[in-house]
Amino acid sequence: MENKNKKLALVTGAASGLGFELSLLLAKDAYNLILIDIDADRLEEAKNNILKEHSTEITTLLKDLSLPDISLEIYEAIKGQPIDVLINNAGFGLFGTFCNTDWERESQMLNLHILTTTHLLKLILPDMVKRGKGKVLNLSSLAAFQPGPLMALYYASKGYILSFSEAISNELKGTGVTVTALCPGPTKTSFQSVVSQDTSENKIAFNMACPRDVAEYGYKAMHKGKVVAIPGTINKFLSVLPRILTRNRTTKIVRKIQDKNRAS
Ligand SMILES: NC(=O)c1ccc[n+]([C@@H]2O[C@H](COP(=O)([O-])OP(=O)(O)OC[C@H]3O[C@@H](n4cnc5c(N)ncnc54)[C@H](OP(=O)(O)O)[C@@H]3O)[C@@H](O)[C@H]2O)c1
Repeated sequence: MENKNKKLALVTGAASGLGFELSLLLAKDAYNLILIDIDADRLEEAKNNILKEHSTEITTLLKDLSLPDISLEIYEAIKGQPIDVLINNAGFGLFGTFCNTDWERESQMLNLHILTTTHLLKLILPDMVKRGKGKVLNLSSLAAFQPGPLMALYYASKGYILSFSEAISNELKGTGVTVTALCPGPTKTSFQSVVSQDTSENKIAFNMACPRDVAEYGYKAMHKGKVVAIPGTINKFLSVLPRILTRNRTTKIVRKIQDKNRAS
């Protein structure tokens, strides 16, 4: 391994979107990288694109992060290497009424967002605490702040990530380790086309953010040790709307927006 003294970062879902942009920022800051994703070609392409711009060492791990015990497999694969930054980014959305959506895909999403994120932290955080340093960035969402009809499980799973991140961030005070929940609003990545695969076209009711800007915001927040990072003034306002309007009213608003997306 070259550059043995460099810091090491692990990023999940690094082949595209926010994960790729975050990996670029880490490479620019001279981190060695362990990049994980499910798609071999796109992961290799991401690695090559990063290496075109930055000289760093990149290990790729091809993993389906929705599989049970995958975190243990990853931990065993990286054993001995101290992780300075862990970015739990991989995720996807699913659209439709709960009674009609596909359980197989839903359970994969819940495994990925909830179990894998939690288990990876369970394995890696104690090492960080022992070393007295480490940064974690968990990808939550603006969806975490209210219920989301027609994307009920996605919203609920992002709510879990936010709540879990806030709680352990409190527990970690004074250890030198910080946990940040990044809560982006709609962002222009392939995530949006996956969510809208059941609709004829994806029409979202907001202007979508640029993934590079969102990644930069989250990256800075993580380095500052901020607990919750919400990029964009409108998103910050939307995150407190349930407290102003009540959760019941914002749930109805989200339903209207989702109906509109479905109808487009
Ligand atoms: N874009 C938004 O509007 C938005 C808003 C708020 C929060 N977020 C969150 O931001 C995170 C990143 O999303 P993104 O917008 O950057 O979407 P993206 O471009 O689709 O990136 C997600 C990456 O995760 C990978 N992935 C999905 N399932 C996986 C699995 N089981 N195992 C390993 N890798 C897997 C995807 O691979 P494949 O493409 O091959 O499946 C993809 O490379 C997600 O957690 C998402 O919920 C996104």
